[in-house]
Amino acid sequence: MLSKKMEAALNGQVLMEAQSSQAYLAMASWAEVQAGFDGVTQFFFRHSDEERMHMLKLIHFINERGGKAIIPALAQPEQTFDSIQHAFKELMHHEVAVSESINNLVDIALQEKDYATHNFLQWYVAEQIEEERLARILLDKLEMIADDKGGLYLFDRDILQVGAVDKNSPA
Ligand code: FEO
Repeated sequence: MLSKKMEAALNGQVLMEAQSSQAYLAMASWAEVQAGFDGVTQFFFRHSDEERMHMLKLIHFINERGGKAIIPALAQPEQTFDSIQHAFKELMHHEVAVSESINNLVDIALQEKDYATHNFLQWYVAEQIEEERLARILLDKLEMIADDKGGLYLFDRDILQVGAVDKNSPA
């Protein structure tokens, strides 16, 4: 059974995963109308779907542990970006914030002596290591490429392979 404090904190994470999904959906839609960025577009659409799965996994857990998941209202995410680099910088900042939020949940689970939730959260801890690593690699590559068109062409082609990193689908 979840404590009220744990339940509220997990519902906060439902909101954060939903916001992530929405933010990456806006990035995908923005990328889709930029000429020649099919790979980046697919990457963001797929990433948005992954965040939705992260959210669903939390919703099921809260409900199955005697709590009540709250389906949140969402603010409109940023719609336009100055460049591909700008979008990936936002992705990176977002993932760092998600990691901090997951760490905070782990702290609360320990305070509450809720070892089932602590165990459940380990999947997210591992996932965030991978997501931050991926965001950092992609951003480093983009900073190296800067405005080089050939480099951006290869980045867009190669990201379809890198983006297939989420092996632990929670569905
Ligand atoms: Fe579900 Fe990218 O954090």
